[in-house]
This record gives sequence, structure tokens and C-alpha cells, in this order.
Amino acid sequence: MCGIIGYIGNKNCVPLLIEGLKRLEYRGYDSAGIGVIKDGQSIIVKNKGKVSELQAKVEQLDLEANIGLGHTRWATHGIPNEINAHPHQNSDGTIFLIHNGIIENYKPLKKILSQEGYKFSSETDTEVIAHLIDSFLKKGFDFFKATRLALLEIEGTYGLAVLYTREPDKIIVARKGSPIILGIGNNENFVASDVSAVLAHTKNVIYLEDGEIALLKKDDYLVRTITDDEVIKEVQEISMTLDEIDKGGYPHFMLKEIMEQPESLRNSIRGRLLLEEGTAKLGGLDNIIDDLLDVDRFIITACGTSWHAGLVAEYMFEQFIRIPTEVEYASEFRYRNPVINKRDAVFFISQSGETADTLAALRETKLRGGIAIGICNVVGSSIARESDSGVYIHAGPEIGVASTKAFTSQLIVLALITLLIARRKNLSLENGREIAKAISRIPDQVAEILKLNDKIEEIAEKFKDAKNFLYLGRGYNFPVALEGALKLKEISYIHAEGYPAAEMKHGPIALIDENMPVVFIAPKDATYDKIISNIQEVKARGGRIIAIASEGDEEIKDLVEYVIYIPHTIAMLKPILTVIPLQLLAYHIAVKKGLNVDQPRNLAKSVTVE
Ligand code: M6R
Repeated sequence: MCGIIGYIGNKNCVPLLIEGLKRLEYRGYDSAGIGVIKDGQSIIVKNKGKVSELQAKVEQLDLEANIGLGHTRWATHGIPNEINAHPHQNSDGTIFLIHNGIIENYKPLKKILSQEGYKFSSETDTEVIAHLIDSFLKKGFDFFKATRLALLEIEGTYGLAVLYTREPDKIIVARKGSPIILGIGNNENFVASDVSAVLAHTKNVIYLEDGEIALLKKDDYLVRTITDDEVIKEVQEISMTLDEIDKGGYPHFMLKEIMEQPESLRNSIRGRLLLEEGTAKLGGLDNIIDDLLDVDRFIITACGTSWHAGLVAEYMFEQFIRIPTEVEYASEFRYRNPVINKRDAVFFISQSGETADTLAALRETKLRGGIAIGICNVVGSSIARESDSGVYIHAGPEIGVASTKAFTSQLIVLALITLLIARRKNLSLENGREIAKAISRIPDQVAEILKLNDKIEEIAEKFKDAKNFLYLGRGYNFPVALEGALKLKEISYIHAEGYPAAEMKHGPIALIDENMPVVFIAPKDATYDKIISNIQEVKARGGRIIAIASEGDEEIKDLVEYVIYIPHTIAMLKPILTVIPLQLLAYHIAVKKGLNVDQPRNLAKSVTVE
């Protein structure tokens, strides 16, 4: 959620920190701050609001320094204001630090430190860490040891970077539960919560694991465990390029990411589809494929959009693999003492690979002996690294807070997994070939739908002032109704609900009148006739209907106000096509309302706190 960047080297770190913060802004952005050491003194500049406002403030100071930290905050403890923004300091300003995560025992620690005479100036949990380190420094420990001992007292999660004015050649970095990396440069080093913040300067990174603490100098580093054991770390080279994380000429990352779906889907499929054999090849599952054929149950856990992808996978797995499949919110799963055993395969779907609840569900599963399979986008993310095996979706960096291309890539990868396992079980060659061929056509079909962008923008104009929206779908397209509603509410702040269309009669039908737009996801499939009846029911009550339908469907035209056609594909892949118009509809409505689609209020791209 919060973004962390730090620099030590010979350059002026101030513009580097601001630039890094801009790249991290999408993670959390209610306030921001930087702190540097100059002539043995700490200088902290903080601001409520955007990084650009912080930048303006910093530029007035004409600040130069060779070591510093920067932070974008997404508030958890204490309102978003300047005082609660990071960095936080000890009382004499010799220590300052930035933190991502939650210190769960900050109240008892604050009480003890207050009794010892420490004064607190913010409402944050983070500030206790600065005073706690100070208390160990006062006991005579050096900076590294004082920080390590302080962290041993802390319960909760942290990705942390700390500076001390009396040892101004070091940054101390630690991780427990919140991602943090070291960027290794030439006579300069970086720390960041996300590789995108350092990519302009180095492609060589070290991923810290939970329970590790690093001492970073400009030309050296050392990593130990928090309990003081030596750790040898591997420097990894990042393949992502800067171009990949820029807007590429689009006004928003969200639109860029919607529009690049033909390419992201091609990347997800590349080298994985065997058209002749009618199957898929997924190296990441090689070590467990035999076990997967024989499990009692699949469980899928995830949050938000990734959970919707899981719901689609439930239909795929049960239709083709014939193994019972359950889908559960990771946040519920982890806390309800779930029954998991060796013959359960548990999938963890996460774009970021860092979602706190999904990661905790993964750890719980491993503890109980289940087979843990990660489906992630971010390479080297915590879920990817901690899973027994897994498949990267290769959608490329997704910056817009509203997930779009990651969703469609998750779906196509889940289709590949279905194909692979189903063919190893009892799916025929003929049916396997049919699915493989349909998968191979999806990127071009998505490109066709994207040509309807102008038409969808016109529809958005008509509906932008609606107060509520209902999205209805059946079967494979019920999760798409949920996803369409989520997209609209998170970026346009219009209340929207997704429902299985047949459930409408059991309650939501009471909402329908001439002010209620209803989006029906109604492609030609096994439930088409039923959904046409549902459309009639809404029409009879004056509801305004937008339908997503299969090309060539003339019948539906007479029943609805607007129809958006999608090309034909097999039922399991339809969600990849039907969701595209819904992404565009949400995007255009939000833009027409003048909202910040890439950074919607209160949301963060990567939810690394519970
Ligand atoms: O990174 P993850 O896929 O684990 O994130 C899960 C959700 O936080 C995420 O999908 C969220 O719902 C998005 N804002 C949806 O657009």
C-alpha cells in the first residue's frame, strides 16, 4: 500500500526520491514525505496530498543530499495529514524512518516508551519504532544492532528503512510481511517497496525475505536474519523495462492497460499452447502435475478482482476436470480454521502477489500440508516465491488501481491450467484441440471488441449521471457481472451490484424503475433463453438495459436500449470477452465524471495490510 524509496550514493538523492515516489504513487497516496541527512542533520519535508505537491514544497528548499528516504502513505493509523505522513523521527531527529505495514503491539510499546519519557507527535503506529530504536541506542548498541533489537520487540508487519544522522553512511532495511527490495547500483544503492521505483537506475535487485534485515552502504551491503544469523542473498536481474511502466501516450494507465489486452493475453499464452496435441505446457506446474490429477478438491482463494477470476475458474475446473472446487475470499479462509489436507490443491490468485490476506492464506495452507499454487503477475512477489509451484500470468506491470489486463490474463492462464489437467485426465484430443484453438483466437477477438471503444464511450455519456447500476449474468458470466460492478464502483463511485440473473427475482427486482440501468451479460450459451426472460422482466418494469451479446444476435436488439456485440467463443472463455466492454464502460463513465481513474479515492493497488 505505502510506497518506499531510499538512496545512498554520490548523487543528489532529492530528485531521485521524488521520481521514485511518483512511480510508487499508485500504491497509496494520501500523503507523502522525504527525509535526508545533510551536514549531519536530518531534514524532513512532508505533505498531505500528492507527490507533485511535495515536489513543489521540496523545490522551494533547494535541498541537496547524498542519502535519503521517501514515502507515499496510505493511512492505516491516524488521519492522512502532514504530521502522520512519513518519515517519522525520534525526539531529537537523529533517527528517522519510513514504514509499510502495521505494528500490532504499538499501543503497549507506546505506553512503555511514554513511561520512559518519550514524547509522541503523531497518531501513527510507525512512530513507536523510531523511539524504540532510540531507546536501544541509548543503551549503547550501534545503529544496526539497536534497530535489530527494536524489531525483535515488534509484532505485526513491516517493510522498513531507517536512517541515523550519527552513522550517515548506512540505510537499515528490514522486512516482515511487507515487500521490500534492495536495488544494487554502481557506487550507489537503493531500497524500494517495488522494483518500478528503482528501475530507471538499476535492474539488479535483492528481494528481502520476512525476518531479514539489511545494512546498505553506497558500495556494500550485508543481510542477516533478525535473530542475527548470516544470510547469503542472490542478486537478481529484472527483465521489466521502463517503457513497460509508462503510459505510452494514453491519458490514463487504466485505458492503456485495457487497450493492451490483446498483447498481454498473447504474452500469457506465448509458448504454452500445444494446438496439435490439444493441451497446454506450464513449466511451473511440472513438479506437481501428477499430484494435481489425483487431488480430492481444489480450493481457490483470492481477493477482489482476482477472486472473481477464481469464480470463473470454479466453473472451468468443475466442467472439465470434474474435481470439486471451492472459491473463498482469502480474508475469510485464513480466519475460519479451514479444513485442508495433503490431498487438497489450493490456488492463490493475486496480481500483485503481495495481498496480505492471500499471502496469509497461503502460509496457513502450507502449514496444514495442502499443495500451494500461486497464480501471480508480479515476478518474484511473495506469493510467487512462497508457493510450492505456480504460473505467472505475464500480463506486464499493471499500474492503474482498477485491475483490467491482469483479470483477463488470469482467466486465460486458468483456462490453460484447466486444459492441461483435463487432458491429463479424460478430456478427448478433439475437445482439447477445440479449446486450444479457441484460446489461441482470444487476443484477436479482444482486439475486435476494443474497436467498439467510441460506441461504449457514447453509452457512458448517456449513463454517467446514474446513481445505481445493476449487472446481471448467469453461469460463466455471473462472475463477470460482479467484476463489471466492481470496476464501476471503484473508479466512478456509482453504487453498483452484480447478481446471478436468476436471483434478480428474489430481491433486486424491487429496485428496478426507469432510473435503474441494468447491464445484462447475455452471450449465446446454454442459459441464453433464460436470460432473455430476465431481460423481459426488467423491460416490463421500465428498467434501462444495456446488453453484452453475441454477434449476429438480432433478437436481443428489440428488447434493449443498447447492445454491444462480442465475437463467438466457447463458454469457458466468454468472460474474457464479455468483461472488456464493462471495463471500457466503467472507464468512460469515471472520466466523464472528472474522476481520477488511476488513483481512485481510498484505494491502493496492493493491499498489503489486513
Ligand atoms: O494484487 P491482488 O490481485 O491480490 O489484489 C486483489 C485486490 O485487491 C484487487 O483485485 C482489487 O480488488 C482491485 N482494485 C480490483 O480492481
